[in-house]
Amino acid sequence: MQIFGLDIGGSGIKGAPVDLDRGDLAQERFKVLTPHPATPDGVADGVKQVVEHYGWTGPVGLTFPGVVTDGSTIRTAANVDRSWIDTDARALFSERLGGLPVTVVNDADAAGVAEMHFGAGRDRRGTVILLTFGTGIGSALFIDGALVPNTELGHLELHGHDAEKRASSKAKEDEDLSWEHWAHRVQKYLAHVEMLFSPELFIVGGGVSRKSQKFLHYIEGIKAEIVPAQLQNNAGIVGAAMRAAEKDG
Ligand code: BGC
Repeated sequence: MQIFGLDIGGSGIKGAPVDLDRGDLAQERFKVLTPHPATPDGVADGVKQVVEHYGWTGPVGLTFPGVVTDGSTIRTAANVDRSWIDTDARALFSERLGGLPVTVVNDADAAGVAEMHFGAGRDRRGTVILLTFGTGIGSALFIDGALVPNTELGHLELHGHDAEKRASSKAKEDEDLSWEHWAHRVQKYLAHVEMLFSPELFIVGGGVSRKSQKFLHYIEGIKAEIVPAQLQNNAGIVGAAMRAAEKDG
């Protein structure tokens, strides 16, 4: 079965039809730039362009970089325009897509669902935490394979700062940190999350998962196993489609 998956990120809106049996994109993905400011109206236009590129007419799953309740309502907007708060995103996107059925899910939760099913978290029981390092830090918490949604662990306070402001990959770029320096911050962050949840496994996702060999070896003193995400940049798209399939089926 195929469902369309879309990932709304700080820099791009990317999507493709997803082959749910393989957990992979069925066609090459198409991307448009996220408008700035990333308002509901501007983002919805970008989403429409991506979906229309394929002439898609079936169900659509979308990720959003904030808290999403009931597959629809946006509750936080740390890295997009604040006018998203309390927006009924399902209604907005469905209307813009000519009435297609739409499901919206937090971006890290979507990535986590895909990794647990098809990637680094496959068959893993116990407490597993996926963290995405990108514009912000996203989190997905799983207990024996079941998702606890909207955990928002990127906003834990670390040394008096919002953790994602110190340890996201945007912080690395903005402050021009070396891999070693940034890895040291990530290590402190992981130690804090470990103190709270004692997971068996951390999955490191987001754009940096492709570059894990540059920094994972600097991270020491964490008891949990730490592995890079396997679906890398497509995890959000695949997970969004998986959630939409659950709602549709
Ligand atoms: C948001 C999360 C999101 C993460 C990654 C954070 O700022 O609050 O909801 O998952 O960024 O995009």
